[in-house]
Order: sequence, then C-alpha cells, then structure tokens
Amino acid sequence: MSADATRLLRRLGAGLAALVLLLVGWAWWGSRLPASYGADAMGVADFGGGPEGGHHDGHHDGPDAAGVSLTTLTADPTRAADVRYELVARAERVTLPGAMPFDGYTLNGTTPAPEIRAREGQLVEVVLRNENVAAGTTLHWHGLDVPNAMDGVAGVTQDAVLPGESFTYRFVANQVGTFWYHSHQVANPQVVGGLFGALVVEPAAGGEPDAVALLHTYPGQTRSLSGVLGDAHREAPAGSRVRMRVVNTDNLATAVWVAGGPFRLVAVDGVDLHGPTPIEGRRVIVPAGGRVDLAVEVPASGGVRLQAPGVSLVLGPAGASAPTASSPGEILDLLTYGTSTPLPFATDAPDRFSYDIGRLPGFLDGRPGFWWSINGRIVPHVPMFVVAEGDVVVMRITNNSGQSHPMHLHGHHLVVLARNEAAASGSPWWVDSLEVGHGESYDVAFLADNPGIWMGHCHNLPHAAEGLMTHVMYTGVTTPFLLGAASGNVPE
Ligand code: C2O
Ligand code: CU
Repeated sequence: MSADATRLLRRLGAGLAALVLLLVGWAWWGSRLPASYGADAMGVADFGGGPEGGHHDGHHDGPDAAGVSLTTLTADPTRAADVRYELVARAERVTLPGAMPFDGYTLNGTTPAPEIRAREGQLVEVVLRNENVAAGTTLHWHGLDVPNAMDGVAGVTQDAVLPGESFTYRFVANQVGTFWYHSHQVANPQVVGGLFGALVVEPAAGGEPDAVALLHTYPGQTRSLSGVLGDAHREAPAGSRVRMRVVNTDNLATAVWVAGGPFRLVAVDGVDLHGPTPIEGRRVIVPAGGRVDLAVEVPASGGVRLQAPGVSLVLGPAGASAPTASSPGEILDLLTYGTSTPLPFATDAPDRFSYDIGRLPGFLDGRPGFWWSINGRIVPHVPMFVVAEGDVVVMRITNNSGQSHPMHLHGHHLVVLARNEAAASGSPWWVDSLEVGHGESYDVAFLADNPGIWMGHCHNLPHAAEGLMTHVMYTGVTTPFLLGAASGNVPE
C-alpha cells in the first residue's frame, strides 16, 4: 500500500472513531436525568390507538392541558375515619425468632408490620410517622385502588416522609379481599428489609375464618411465612373451612400448594373467582406482589398444610400435624380455571397500547449498562401512557427481554383477555400483578375510572430500579412532586 493510502485509511479510521465517540457521548448525554423533574413531564406521550385507528381527536389533550393537581384526588376530607392506625417507621436491628439478626425496618417495632383490617365501605386512616429512616419512606396500598393522592409513591403522589415527619393516608376500603402495603421510597431495600404488612378488607357484614400467610425473604435469611422461618402453625377446629390469604412480598414468583386435602383457588389479587373447582396435584403460581386466597378444609383428624418452597403453614387443632408433599409438577392455569361470566365493560372498541419489554445496551442516567427497555426505549424515553377518564383501555404486554417480569399497575385492576393470543375462557381473571414470562404476550383490559398518575412497573423491585417502570397518566392531571437526585424522592 502506498504511504498516501495508509495515511488516508488512518484518517478515515480516526474519523470513524471520533464519530462513534460522538454518538456514544450523545446517547450518554441524552440519558442523563435532570436534577429534578415531574413524573407528568417524564417520557414520551403515547395516546394509544383509538377505535378509529388514530387517537381520539380533542379527547386527549395531552399532558400539558390545564389540569388538576393530583393532590386534590383524595377521599372525602370531611368524613370521619372508621378505622385508624398509627404506624411508626424505624430502621433498626431486627431479630426474628430463629433467625440471624439483620439491619432492617419495622413499623411499630415489628416486621411484618401490623396487619390492617377493615370492612368494606369503611374509611381507613393511617398516620405514618418516620422516626429514623434516613432516606425517608412512604406507604403504598398494593392492589387497593385508592384515590391518587393516597397512593404513596414518592416523587409522584407525595414527597418521601423524612425522619421526624408524618403523612396521613385516608381511603375508603371499596374492595373486599387480600392486599398488602409497603414502602414506595427506595422500595427494594426497604421492602426486603421489612417495611411491609398485610391489609385485609372483609365484607361489610359476615366473613369467614381466615389465615394470612405473608411470604418474605429477609436479607441474608431463609424464607419466612408471616415472620416465622420454616414451619408455622395456626389453630383451626377440625372440619372447619379456612380462607388462606397468601401474599408474595418477595421479588420473584413463588409456587404454593396444599398437602393433606384438596383446595379451591377462590380469589386472585383481591378479586373473587367465579366457579372455582377443587384442585389436587397442581401448584399455583403467585407473582411478586400478587396474592391468592385458597379455600381449605381442616380434616376431621390432623391438619392441612399450605406449602411454598422453604416454608409451610399447618392449620389444625393444637398439636395437629399434617403431611408434606413435594411441589406438584402441574401448574394451575388461570386462563381456563373457573367459569366465565360477562365483564363489567365492553372491550370491542378500546383505546389500545403496547407495553413491549426488552433489554438494550445503553445509558441509564449516564450509567452504561444492559437496561430494561419499554417499546424499545430506555428511561426516561419510555412511553407515558395517556388515557382519559371513561376510556376502556386494552394493553398488549409482550416480553422479549430474556427474563420473566411481574408487571404491576397502580390504581386499577386489569382483566386478562388473552395470553399468546389464546382467549381467556375461565373465570374473569383480574390482576394487579401479572407474571409475564419471556416470550409471552398478554392482552389485558381496564376501565380508566380512577384519575391520576399511576405507576406501571415490574415488581421485581431491582428491575424497576433498572428502568422497568413507567406511568399511566390521565389527561389533565398534574403533580407538584418531583423525581430526580435533587428531590430526595426515589420511588424504586
Ligand atoms: Cu407493590 Cu409500585 O408497588
Ligand atoms: Cu422485571
């Protein structure tokens, strides 16, 4: 090669390298989050596709339309509370029976936090005081579709409650079922460390014997069931029926099954199933954040055992034992379990959105990595799903990211219409936490009947912190709260 050609090639190479550097630098620059920003200004507005193929004209005015602050979206401020709790959050050394002490979090000195119980229609008031949780904290009512200002998401619906401060949550318990509550500020370490509890709403009158089983893995511990490592026991008379309320507070899906008798799956995510039939020899999968209610019968002699990997709960008379069983090979498929019944809204002309989960190399707030992506973009360039009150929304969630994701939408329950385009044919399957496996697609529908700005994220909490989170926002709703390093609010 002549000296000239070599020089030319070198120059070209140097130019190319400079260009690549420039592009990478530009991607890095574009990925950086402002020191503080509003959730309502986050992302790229996505108005979905309406029945006419485009988005509704004039119907969606976009996020900038003169609007209402979400702080006005509360329960009736003049109504007195029917049920009241005061919870003091503390960072402290926690010692569970039989466990190694660890640095965790408590509410009123305990983890799991006190169980909150209300009856349908009651106004629940919870005063949260932060004694010494340095990063601040909040409480989110997972699965309860509360007014937006009470949703407990730091930087979206409130500021993190700093040490010495308090915040009062008020909402009407309009849904009967099994729910839970947890911190939504620096959520992964705070929830894993103990800032969570069960929330049960019983019917206005009556009810049935129940037993709450909170599945949780504390830092450096084996798994626990309602704070007990290994095997727990609760008394129930021979021959009685008990509703076992299983809550998965961990970051990964779990299997649960019953040894010592058949059971029925009577509710998922706080919604009763229609026509549930007896189940034997199958396991039930509970996504992270999800709940299942299992109806079991205590046998005439001995007990019945709820099992999940690493833990179990025996129900029976004092001293009763129960057999154990290994995890059944077959999974109960909720797409076909129970009998169908009409949905409360028509889904033939919905507002359509896509929520495609992937993974991309790039920068997240200036940090290089292999990040979760939504519709091919990394936070903050993810879609902001904009809806209007009254819309029927159908969302197709697809996952080609290589891992499974428990997808959780705040403020609404979603009904599963189809999985991998096979239509649901069992009981209406309502969820707030839906496991979407790699390679799967789900069509889900919801009625936009709860105005606000609502997180829609993966409940494997480290994934949310790695960018698998976005929002559903109602036209015209704004937030005065800020996200970003300068704000002190870190919802994930
Ligand atoms: Cu259980 Cu956004 O959370
Ligand atoms: Cu995930």
